[in-house]
Amino acid sequence: MRMIIELKAASSITGDTELLRGIDWVVRAGEHWAVLGLNGSGKTSLLNLLNGYVPLSSGVMRVLGRRYGAYDWRALRKRVGFISSSLQERFYGGETALEIVLSGIFSTIGLYDSPRRKDIAMARSILERLKCGPLAGHNYSSLSQGEKQKVLIARALVSRPRLLIMDEPSTGLDFFSREEFLAGVHGFAESNSSAKSPLTLIYVTHHLEEILPVFTHVLLLKGGQIHSAGETRKILTAGNLSSFFGVPVALRWRSGRAWLEMKY
Ligand SMILES: Nc1ncnc2c1ncn2[C@@H]1O[C@H](COP(=O)(O)OP(=O)(O)O)[C@@H](O)[C@H]1O
Ligand SMILES: [Mg+2]
Repeated sequence: MRMIIELKAASSITGDTELLRGIDWVVRAGEHWAVLGLNGSGKTSLLNLLNGYVPLSSGVMRVLGRRYGAYDWRALRKRVGFISSSLQERFYGGETALEIVLSGIFSTIGLYDSPRRKDIAMARSILERLKCGPLAGHNYSSLSQGEKQKVLIARALVSRPRLLIMDEPSTGLDFFSREEFLAGVHGFAESNSSAKSPLTLIYVTHHLEEILPVFTHVLLLKGGQIHSAGETRKILTAGNLSSFFGVPVALRWRSGRAWLEMKY
């Protein structure tokens, strides 16, 4: 099976801070991964490593078949879609959701080039797949936080990435916005799985219950190291998570999602 990400004994050090140590992680085509860890566990550092924004100090890294150090990573970044909660703040003003999505084709903030008719059709169809088709003509600034986040995913998707990375995309969303956002991710994942060449999803969070059933695998990160990684149902067990958090926890599964409880 084709490798999407391959990290072997990968470490990252900046200055005298060791961000990541001894990371062994393989993501194969067809898998979707959730990366779970508490604040400061190194999740964003791991994504920064993949994007080449922090150094690979030792070990080997391949992304989409390209080896780090032997390929221009700026070219690689064009094939990786990335969204985080802080991205939202870079967009404002009177643009419509559709215009924001289209700006992703040109990688600009704001729409300066004229989109082709087929680009517009593609942008609309991506919005549909994220369950926000009717929002196309709405002003971006009038959308709810959850809707904005879906529009930004659509923006990342118009450039047809092979890999879509979401770094804590639900930060700041209230309960209902978050569920609406997750429903969009779920809708997209379903249409993606029937696509000819599905793209790989990576979802980074510190909330267990955001790990939708579409995520086949989970990586638990702690102190810049991997605690455990593998198939979702093998990683998300009360025993493994109690060891991960260092406190006894219990799990409740509802509609394919795991909810965490303290065990008193
Ligand atoms: N560029 C950097 N230079 C120095 N320390 C950093 C840098 N980036 C992150 N860190 C530190 O590394 C740790 C992990 O941060 P981060 O990867 O952002 O965690 P998470 O995304 O899981 O919350 C934190 O202690 C953070 O302060
Ligand atoms: Mg982070």
